[in-house]
Amino acid sequence: MDLGLRDAAVVVNGGTKGMGRAAAECFAADGAKVCVLARGQAGIDETVAALAALGSPDAWGVSTDLTSRPSVEAAFAAVGERWGSCNTLVNAAGPVDVGIGAFDAIDDDEWMATFDIGTLSAVRCVRAALPLLRAAEWARIVNVSAHSTKRQSPEIVAYTAAKAAMTSLSKNLSVWLAGDAILVNTVSPGSFLSAGMVGYLEALPAERGVDPHSLVDAMRVIGEDFGHPAHLPRAGDPAEIGPVIAFVGSRVNSYMTGANVNVDGGSDFC
Ligand SMILES: NC(=O)c1ccc[n+]([C@@H]2O[C@H](COP(=O)([O-])OP(=O)(O)OC[C@H]3O[C@@H](n4cnc5c(N)ncnc54)[C@H](OP(=O)(O)O)[C@@H]3O)[C@@H](O)[C@H]2O)c1
Repeated sequence: MDLGLRDAAVVVNGGTKGMGRAAAECFAADGAKVCVLARGQAGIDETVAALAALGSPDAWGVSTDLTSRPSVEAAFAAVGERWGSCNTLVNAAGPVDVGIGAFDAIDDDEWMATFDIGTLSAVRCVRAALPLLRAAEWARIVNVSAHSTKRQSPEIVAYTAAKAAMTSLSKNLSVWLAGDAILVNTVSPGSFLSAGMVGYLEALPAERGVDPHSLVDAMRVIGEDFGHPAHLPRAGDPAEIGPVIAFVGSRVNSYMTGANVNVDGGSDFC
C-alpha cells in the first residue's frame, strides 16, 4: 500500500535504535525525508546511511538530548531551516535505564528522571515542532507509550506512570489539535526485543539461562520479572511494529485520532 509519504518530512526521535529505528526505516522505504534525533552521533551516522540506502531522499539526523529544552529547540530550529515544515513527528524515545523498580526502591530523583525522558521529552518535541506541523499540508503526531499502562506493573511503577502520562498527553493533544487537522495517536508496544531490552537481558545473571537475542527468552523474562505475559509466546521484533507506526503517522491515516493502538502479541487479557 502506498502510504502517501513520498517527500513527506518526518522526524523520529529515538530513531536510531529499536522501534524508532524500525519506524524510521519504514518511512524511508516509502520515500519520506527522514530526520532522526538521538544523542549518539555514531548511531545517527549509521542510521542515516541505512535510511538513504532504503530510499529516503533527504535522510539526516541531529544529535539531541531530549531531556534538554535548548537541545530540542535547536534540533527543531535546524529542521525548520532545512524543511520549513514537518508532516510527521514520532516520539519514540523513552526510559530504558530509569524507572525500573518497586515503589520503595525509587527516590524523587529517579521519578523525575523517568518523567523527563518518558513524558517531557515528547512535550518538548511537540512544542518545538508545532509551528512546523501547522505549516505542513497535512500533519500527524505518533507517541510511543507502553501496554504496561493498561496492565499496571508494581515492579516498574515510575516507568508505567510516565508512560500513562504520555498516553494522556497524546489524547489531550488529539482534542486540542483537531481544529488544526493535526492527528495525534498513541502506539502502545508490548514487549519488544529492542536495543534497550537486549541490554536488560544481557545484564541478567548467567544462571537464568537467557539468550539476550531470543524472542522467546525475552518474553519469559518479562513474564517472570514484570508479570506481563502475552498470548503469542514470544516478544516482538521491532520490525513488526515499524509499519504500524508508519501507517498511523502517514497521510493515508486520515480519520484516526486520539486512538491508542496496541501492538503487544495479545497481552490485554492474559
Ligand atoms: N522495548 C520494549 O519492550 C518496550 C515496551 C513498551 C514500550 N516501550 C517504549 O517504546 C519506545 C522505544 O523503545 P525501544 O526499546 O525500542 O528503545 P531503544 O532500542 O532503547 O532505543 C532508544 C532510542 O532513544 C534514543 N534516546 C534515548 N534517550 C535519549 C535522550 N535522552 N535523548 C535523545 N535520544 C535518546 C536512543 O539513542 P541514544 O542512546 O543514542 O540517545 C535510541 O535511538 C520507548 O518509548 C519505550 O519506553 C518499549
